Formats: sequence, structure tokens, C-alpha cells
Amino acid sequence: MAERLVIAPPHGPLSGNISVPGDKSVTHRALMLAAIAQGDTELRGAGEGADNQSTLAAIEQLGVGVLRPVPGIIVVRGVGLYGLKRPQRPIDCGNSGTTARLLAGLLAGAGVEATLTGDESLSRRPMARIADPLNDLGLSLQVSSRGTLPLTVRSAADMARQLEPARAVLRVASAQVKSAILFASLYRRAVTEVVEPEVTRDHSERLLRAFGVRVASSHHYLQPQTAAADAVAPFVRLESPELLRPRLLEVPGDLSSAAFLLAAAVVTGGKVTVTGCGVNPTRTAFLTHLQQLGARVTLRRNRVTTSGEPVADVTVAAGPLKPRSVGGAAIPLLIDELPLVALLAALCEGETRIDDAGELRLKESDRLATTLGLLKAMQVDCEATEQGLIVRGRGGSGWPAFAFDAAGDHRLAMAAAVAALGATGPCTIDGAESINVSYPGFVGALIALGAHVERSQA
Ligand code: S3P
Repeated sequence: MAERLVIAPPHGPLSGNISVPGDKSVTHRALMLAAIAQGDTELRGAGEGADNQSTLAAIEQLGVGVLRPVPGIIVVRGVGLYGLKRPQRPIDCGNSGTTARLLAGLLAGAGVEATLTGDESLSRRPMARIADPLNDLGLSLQVSSRGTLPLTVRSAADMARQLEPARAVLRVASAQVKSAILFASLYRRAVTEVVEPEVTRDHSERLLRAFGVRVASSHHYLQPQTAAADAVAPFVRLESPELLRPRLLEVPGDLSSAAFLLAAAVVTGGKVTVTGCGVNPTRTAFLTHLQQLGARVTLRRNRVTTSGEPVADVTVAAGPLKPRSVGGAAIPLLIDELPLVALLAALCEGETRIDDAGELRLKESDRLATTLGLLKAMQVDCEATEQGLIVRGRGGSGWPAFAFDAAGDHRLAMAAAVAALGATGPCTIDGAESINVSYPGFVGALIALGAHVERSQA
């Protein structure tokens, strides 16, 4: 049901300690790999938003048992590499691009015939970027004439006969495309290499290693600055395994959800700590960006979880801001935080450019257009370019009250809620039900940190 938020200016800065739900990207991958592991995998702290539910329902449809002994724990009864059953009906991936793309790779590799569908937004998003490289590897996937869902996997190919090394060179920097190929390659009988134009999030590589698969990559140490200087194209090399060994997996807190709370601290002049937050270096470019803007960013209690993912308690304290442009190799490493980068640019005095971000047009909404729409509603001086945005911030004291419709995009709804905290009067955000896609507890978290939010059915 459609939901409206009305957010009044907070009485003071947003401050406090809070945890966030499990990382959405890690959860998708952990569920899929656990499904084909040889036995039970216990997931602790998995994400439970609608996108992750789509993956959970999908593996159940493929004949995989899922238990929830207590809240916060999911046990996946893995059926082994060759145990997935052909689904009786099309698999509905809902709003989740990661479900559709990674599952397409997994099912194609496993030779399980299936059709994948999705909601209106997902049905507009490109799927040929998955089907083409997988078909080049000898698999058989078909997409609609527009290159979108429905996507059909046919079991024509027998991956077990593929004994020669193969190499896929990606045209687009996409962790989803990389992961789809890695998942399909589990079924080859030879080494597979994936070469990326830029480093993208490496959760698949880390989780595959956690399940005992031999995966080497050229870039697991990289920070965005060094990525730009790296002359060798990043690559991943996977050796096909006999089986995936199940184990207990801890899912880190989702930095892309935390980003909204950390930005709320900056917008209101406060200080927020997110405990147990994932700080994988292929995801932390937003923290680097906050630092470059002038916020104070501190990581404490760093440790590495059993999923191979580093976590820490992340504190962001507001400071005087100066503009900072982003582009190039940093973009894939903060792709989901770019609406927040644009919003924070409005608080800085001077011009900020976001370049090389054409991929944003292909997300849950055309995020260059919808982010521009939010900034315009805030009466910020800004314009869209073909591949990005230019924002001319006035600095200082916020913006007038605004009304905004997130039009089904969860990250735009949350970005608008953060923007509302910097407005001089109550703001209205429609389409807030979409927040459940990734972060069902978001409004509660904002309130716990000191925001005034009223929710109603619109
Ligand atoms: C994701 C990768 C990113 C990101 C998406 C989740 C993933 O997409 O925007 O929210 O889990 O692999 P692309 O890899 O297609 O850029």
C-alpha cells in the first residue's frame, strides 16, 4: 500500500548509536551459494528486505529448504551443486536486479530450465548484459526483444564438458554481471577468468572463498584512488570446485543502508555511529567522500567476519563542508550512494560534478533524472549531463520545505527523507513504501536518532 512520510525539521542534530540490517548484496549471494552447498549453512544477520525475500522465495521454489529457528538466523539446507529442481512456475524476482541477474547465471550454469520475471521497474532494466556474456560462454539464455525480462534459461549447454580455460571481458563495470559469470563458471571443468573495466564490489569472490572455492583476484586491496592509477584491468580467476563446503556465515551491516543515517548526521550537524557495519573496501568510497567533504569519519572495533567481509563501528561527525566532485573508478564503489553525494553537494558552497555515472539511468529508476527531480524540489541549482549531474550548492542553512514522490525507488525515498531533515519546514515524501525493498526499519532508525516523522497511507 502507498505510504506517505511527513518529516518536520528536527529540534536538534541527529545523534546516537544504531545498527543496520544485514548487507543486501552479501545476503543475496550467501543465500544462492548456500542453496548449492553440500549441507546446511547458517546465516546470521541476513538482510530481510523485500529484495532479499525475493531471493529466498526463489531458492525455495528451486527445491531448497529454508528454516528460521530464531529471529536473525536463517538455515539454508543446501542441495549440492547439482540438486536444484526445475521450478514449476516462472520465478518472480520482484524489484530485485541482483536476484534476477545472479540467479540467471547460477541456473544457466547448473542447466536448470527456468523463466525469470519481475515487477514493472525490473522489467525495464537491461538483462542482455547478463545473457550475452553467458551465451558467449556456451550457455543458452534468452531475453525479450527489448533485452529485458522475461529471461528464459534453457538447459541446452552441458558445462561439465567445458574443459578449456575461458575468459570473459566485461564491457560494463557491474558486480552483478561479474557475479553471474562467476556463479555459472562453478559448473565448468576448467579455470574461468573475468576481466572488469573497473573494480566492482567483490562480495561474490569473498563468499566463494568462504565456501572453499579457489578464487584469486587482482584487486582485493584497492582503494578508489589507487584503482584509478592501476594500469592492469582488474580480473578474477575461479577454479571450478568439486563442491561448496557449508559454514556459519555472519552477514555484515549494510553500508548502503547506513549511508542514509550517516548522511543524516552531516545534514543536521550531528554525530551517528553505526555498529557492526560492513566496510569492504569495494564499498567504502562513500566514507572516503564524506571525509573529503570535511566530515570526521572514524572506524573502531574492526574485524573480519566468517563471510570474509570486514566490519567496524563507523562514526560520522559533521564538520564544515567543502565541495568535492566524483567520477571515474570511484563510481562503481559508491554507485548506490550517488543520490546522497548529490544531496550533500547541495549543502556545500560551490560546484560539484558527478561524472561517468551513466549506469545510474539503469537502476530501480533513472536515478540521474529522479535525483535531479529531488534537488529541483529542494530548489537547488543543478543540471543533468548525459553521464552525471552538476550541483551548485549555496552552502549554509538548508532549503525550503518540499514535496517529493519517490516513484517506487527505495533509495530516492530514503535520500528524500534525509533531505527533509535539512529543510526549513515539514516535507512530504510519497512512495515511501518502496523503502521496504532494502531497509524496512529505516523510519524507525531515523526516529530513534531524533527525527520527527509521521507515516500515513497515501
Ligand atoms: C549490486 C551491484 C550494483 C548495485 C546494486 C547491487 C550487487 O549493481 O547498484 O544495488 O549486489 O551486485 P551493478 O553491479 O549492476 O552496478
